[in-house]
Amino acid sequence: MLTFIWAQDECGNIGKDNTMPWYLPADLAYFKKQTTGKTIVVGRKTYESFGKALPNRTNLVLSRDLNLTLPDAEVVHDKEAILKRAETESIFICGGAEIYKLFLDEVDRLLVTKIAARFDADTAFPKLDWDQFKEVGRVEGTQDEKNRYPFTFYTYDRKKAK
Ligand SMILES: NC(=O)c1ccc[n+]([C@@H]2O[C@H](COP(=O)([O-])OP(=O)(O)OC[C@H]3O[C@@H](n4cnc5c(N)ncnc54)[C@H](OP(=O)(O)O)[C@@H]3O)[C@@H](O)[C@H]2O)c1
Repeated sequence: MLTFIWAQDECGNIGKDNTMPWYLPADLAYFKKQTTGKTIVVGRKTYESFGKALPNRTNLVLSRDLNLTLPDAEVVHDKEAILKRAETESIFICGGAEIYKLFLDEVDRLLVTKIAARFDADTAFPKLDWDQFKEVGRVEGTQDEKNRYPFTFYTYDRKKAK
């Protein structure tokens, strides 16, 4: 089972200067709840933006650099190794844009937080054929003084082949 998890603004933007364009702690808490205890996959740049592996998760980092070793994460060089693991375990693809793009044809489930605001950004979620997916869940986020933008947590599943 392969799941994407990400947050995007209303233009589909996801990143700026190798970090998130917004501060939305309710979304960080949602991400933590969804991924704790699971295997997560990030690109080398997103790993660097975190600065370390995320705790209580098995961290896999995709890089083409065959010499790269990380103290707290397993470096993986090819997509096939991830797909093989996804046959027997639940894997969360956690970005960034290059890594989502790599798995667009294989992803089974999308967990997307849609933020109803626009941000200055340099990285967008890749073009996805949304017709291949159906919405199966939607929860409105609660705006407050720390979560200053309207946001909604969506779940989509890939439509079954007829
Ligand atoms: N809003 C969100 O939910 C969210 C989530 C995650 C990230 N982000 C943001 O997204 C931005 C980073 O995204 P990005 O697209 O620039 O970088 P990225 O996807 O995090 O990492 C790109 C790197 O992944 C490795 N890679 C890519 N394709 C590969 C392949 N086929 N095989 C092996 N390794 C491969 C390469 O590493 P090497 O150069 O080492 O070879 C490449 O430089 C940041 O701004 C981050 O904050 C946002």
